[in-house]
Parts: sequence; C-alpha cells; structure tokens
Amino acid sequence: MSMVKKALLPAAGLGTRFLPATKASPKEMLPIVDKPMIQYAVEEAEACGINEFIIITGRHKRTLEDHFDTVYELEENLKQKGKKQLLEEINRLSHLNFAYVRQGRPLGLGHAILRAKPFVKDEPFAVLLSDDVIDPDDNLLQDMIKLYEELDCPVVALEEVPREEIHRYGVIQGEADGDGVYRITDFVEKPEPEQAPSNLAIIGRYILTPDIFRILERMRPGRGGEYQLTDALKGLLKKRSVYGYVFRGRRYDAGDKFGFLKATVSFALKSPIVADRFRDYIISVARELQNRNKGK
Ligand code: UTP
Repeated sequence: MSMVKKALLPAAGLGTRFLPATKASPKEMLPIVDKPMIQYAVEEAEACGINEFIIITGRHKRTLEDHFDTVYELEENLKQKGKKQLLEEINRLSHLNFAYVRQGRPLGLGHAILRAKPFVKDEPFAVLLSDDVIDPDDNLLQDMIKLYEELDCPVVALEEVPREEIHRYGVIQGEADGDGVYRITDFVEKPEPEQAPSNLAIIGRYILTPDIFRILERMRPGRGGEYQLTDALKGLLKKRSVYGYVFRGRRYDAGDKFGFLKATVSFALKSPIVADRFRDYIISVARELQNRNKGK
C-alpha cells in the first residue's frame, strides 16, 4: 500500500484569470465536459490509492462541499426513474473522506497549505492544484509517489516551458539525477526570462512532507505580498534534498480561458458520451474556417 494516503486541494484562490465566470462561483467547479475540474483531481489521486481529501476553500466556495456530499433527493429520484448508470456515477466517490478548511483571505498557496496542518499530522501528503488538469492516462501523480517512496524526499512536478512563458511559474535550478529526475538546488518564483536558472517550471502537483509546515509557519510574504510555496521549498532545501520530476504528458492550465478550452476539446474528444459527434463537429468547423479563409 502506498505511503501517501492524503491529498490537499487548495481551492481558495480568486480565479481572476477566469472573470467574470468566477465572480460568484468557484473556478474549481467549472465543468470540463461533464465533471467539475476539481473532480478530475480527486479521481487522479483516488487512482493512486489516496482516500482522504482536505479541500482548502474560501468565500463563494460552498458548492465544492455540496458536490462531494450525498444528495439523497437526487438519489431517490434517479432510483425511481431506474437511472442506474447516473446513480452509480454520482456515488462513485462516496467511499472517500473529505474535510474542508477555510482560508479566510487568499494570501497565497503557502498560506493555503498551512491551513491544512492539523489534518495532515505526521504523514507525507500530495498537493494537487485542480486548475492544472492532467490527462488521466498520463499517470503523473503515480510516478511522483513512486519516486517519493524510492528517495524518501519531497518531489515536485516540473514541465519544460518556453522561455517567454517562464515568468508565470516557479522555476528550479537542479542537477540531473536519472531520466527526468532532478535534485533541486534552488527555486526562483516567477523570474524574468534572462534570470531564469532553467526552463523547468513547477506545475501543480507536489508530494510533500510535514516538515514543510514548520517553514511555512515562520515565513514572511514574498512576491506579490503572498506567502509563496516556492519560498518555503527554498527554505526546505537547507534541511533536506528535494527532487523534481519532469512531466512529459498532457497538462492543461484550465485556470486560464484558453487552457480551459484546450482541456475541454481534448477531453470531449475522449469522452465515450460525445466523442464521435464532437469530432464530426470540430471537423466541420475546421472545414468552414478553411473555406472562409480561402475566400478572403
Ligand atoms: P492560482 O494562482 O492558479 O489561482 O493558484 P487563483 O489565484 O485562484 O487564480 P488567478 O491567478 O487569480 O486567476 C493555484 C491554486 O492555489 C489556490 C487556487 O485556488 C488554485 O487552485 N490558491 C491560491 C489558494 O487556495 N489560496 C490562495 O491564497 C492562492
């Protein structure tokens, strides 16, 4: 059995890149095909044997709790109508345990993670940022957990990003230590391209150990006045090794409007419910665009 049994899902951010949709509803509840994006993250962790979830919420985020709760009126209704498949679908995650912690003010990812300290206790835990949507066939979290178990060190997910996008990410400096594995020597939050120590950016999956909480507790606000997780990881480097794992699969930044649309198209093309019709539709739209362009 895996040593990582708990997952933290910070979901208290303001979602400003997705306004106005996120003015009164959580970004994490935006559906990709037929499931809210946070459910994909929960299913990704569940597939790795994780069964305890701590969701960090804030104002306007109550629908997150409702989504993972039992809805008995709906269940009764579906039972009466004989809609077995839908009933199974809405109950698919009912064996998991969920706890919710409020982050009163969105003071940054480091601050959000610290809220979960009393629930994590003395165990390693996974952190999943649900607006980074990972293709379920690409097993990122599974590979990270394996690496954690091998090395007994925190592991962060990395992706090679183009230089012009590097200023949007936390970036690492590191020494290669196997295929796609780096022993990290430094972290820099959102560097200018010329100051970036590499093109390896941190993406929204982490396997952390409880010693990160001691560092988060002593931290001061960093870039943008926020308590940055990257700064805490930099502090952790003084005490122990931290590794990076380069993800080469499909990731969608669904907290951004264009990334969200890309995720929607890719997931719809794989969905048994709509894939065929959607593919025909996309082809017809592409043809129409081509013809329009020819006519110009
Ligand atoms: P993001 O920066 O992607 O999310 O944070 P955001 O702040 O909601 O979005 P923008 O940038 O304004 O559009 C990554 C993750 O960390 C959570 C967010 O909910 C998101 O899942 N987060 C961020 C918190 O839980 N608390 C915070 O204070 C900041």
